[in-house]
Amino acid sequence: MGKVIAIANQKGGVGKTTTAVNVAASMAATKRKVLLIDLDPQGNATMGSGVDKYDDPNTCYELLIEEKPIQEVVIKETSGKYDLIAANTDVTAAEIKLMEVFAREVRLRNALAPVRNYYDFIFIDCPPSLNQLTVNAMAAADSVLVPMQCEYYALEGLTALMDTIKKLASVVNPELTIEGVLRTMYDPRNRLANDVSEQLKRHFGEQVYRTVIPRNVRLAEAPSFGTPAMYYDRSSTGSKAYLALAGEILRRSKKESVAKVS
Ligand SMILES: Nc1ncnc2c1ncn2[C@@H]1O[C@H](COP(=O)(O)OP(=O)(O)O)[C@@H](O)[C@H]1O
Ligand SMILES: [Mg+2]
Repeated sequence: MGKVIAIANQKGGVGKTTTAVNVAASMAATKRKVLLIDLDPQGNATMGSGVDKYDDPNTCYELLIEEKPIQEVVIKETSGKYDLIAANTDVTAAEIKLMEVFAREVRLRNALAPVRNYYDFIFIDCPPSLNQLTVNAMAAADSVLVPMQCEYYALEGLTALMDTIKKLASVVNPELTIEGVLRTMYDPRNRLANDVSEQLKRHFGEQVYRTVIPRNVRLAEAPSFGTPAMYYDRSSTGSKAYLALAGEILRRSKKESVAKVS
């Protein structure tokens, strides 16, 4: 059974999309079948996957509002060797229309049901707010991956975010777990970043990934070429870090499945 991981943090600019695109590509490079769902009307994950959001592709709008079958909405040709459900400004309309439809919180969960066993991993790139789209992601996901920058107040923000996720989960998805907390844009020369990182490990323990994503200009450049970093500069510290993250997610998933069986 595939695993659905929502990549969420209501703060913008923390590395959600960069993580979504690069972890999807890294996981696909390990020969897993991967689907990336872009739920952000900004369509950055779409562009970063080499799909032109201005080219009127099928998007989450068709999936969630028109209820087109997922097989018709999925885009197979991406630069990252994963499948994609795209987003563009149409998805803003989807967010508004979701308010009026029946079973609005579980639209995405229901839409994914036919392909949940086909994919090994489904990653969802969430918008930077706690709107109906994010609620749909939380309802559809098995777990949440939280990217964060090690800045002042990061810990407070994270504690608040975890509380929100728990509250939301208790309503729409009691099985939802925290997949992990990912330190992004990390600069080891920055003392504050090191302090915050230590506090984070103390508070959240094993939930914090060992893998740290460094600040790396290649990660910021790759999207303008419409490609994940590993196909832009394979030897960059950024692309290596996301490959390591994919490995860590795989190891954790194996441990969990052993735990579930026994
Ligand atoms: N590890 C990193 N090193 C350098 N730049 C990064 C890194 N991660 C993200 N960025 C850049 O920071 C900006 C915000 O990242 P993004 O992934 O779009 O965040 P979000 O999706 O949370 O808004 C983007 O311009 C992105 O290219
Ligand atoms: Mg984003």
